[in-house]
Amino acid sequence: MTLRVEPSGASCGALIYGVDLSQPHSPAEIDAIRDAWYKHQVVGISGQELQIADLERFAAELGPDGDDPFIASIAGHPRVVEVRREANETTVVFAEAWHSDWSFLESPPAGTLLYGKVIPPVGGDTLFADQYAAYDALSISMKAKIAHLRGIHSARRSYSPGGVYGERDKGRSMAIRYSERAMATQLHPLVRTHPETGRRALFVNLGYTIGIDGMNDAEATALLAELFAHQSRPEFIYRHRWSPGLLTLWDNRCVLHTATGGYQGHQRLLWRITIGERRRFAKSTELESPISVD
Ligand code: SIN
Repeated sequence: MTLRVEPSGASCGALIYGVDLSQPHSPAEIDAIRDAWYKHQVVGISGQELQIADLERFAAELGPDGDDPFIASIAGHPRVVEVRREANETTVVFAEAWHSDWSFLESPPAGTLLYGKVIPPVGGDTLFADQYAAYDALSISMKAKIAHLRGIHSARRSYSPGGVYGERDKGRSMAIRYSERAMATQLHPLVRTHPETGRRALFVNLGYTIGIDGMNDAEATALLAELFAHQSRPEFIYRHRWSPGLLTLWDNRCVLHTATGGYQGHQRLLWRITIGERRRFAKSTELESPISVD
């Protein structure tokens, strides 16, 4: 396998050429893909004709299973879910808010694989925001302010019975399973050190961060609003255009993403697998050791 990597020219994102994902890979080949993934944070591999089993094999080569707590998997394929929207569907577009996949879990997925099966002729791009760059661009005073804070993450606004995908969400073709379990909360440092690259990234997101531990609601809401506005500034964003057969792999530890609409009247269908952490995340590192903020 001779791999060629073409950076997007944006803050993150690259396309990889010379890979056939319908075949198993050697450890050296997986390392080469992994290096590109860690370096560029989001990588696309186009022109792949994959069966579900190919996607499952590639995911297993990359890491352990991730959890998908509120979306039912495809029958017989417990790791794979469908991101689906029918041509005549009128529900709100799934995942159209900046988020990092399942950040409300104790151990959120390291990465996500999304494979384009049916791609509309217009719209439906996925946007990614580079959270290494967002952290690096914070002022010294903001870095000092947030260095030892922990965000409160929860799926409640999306997947609880009263959430966006809850009881009132009628007519959705995706197999979302809302639940009271979505009310649970989980703390994560606002700044995390990536366990594989050692780089610091901002780890909050509009979708799932609902407060800051030990801070009153008014103060936390104001600080989060400032961070949400900062972390999705245009200079951090890469716009990923889909084509049928494009496989995309992103790193939830250092990018946010959001779906976009604009394809009403067309079907859109992708297969998705989340990938768990290979190494234990040093969850409390930021709280125990001083962060130099220059
Ligand atoms: C997702 O957040 O998993 C879906 C992204 C998309 O549909 O573009």
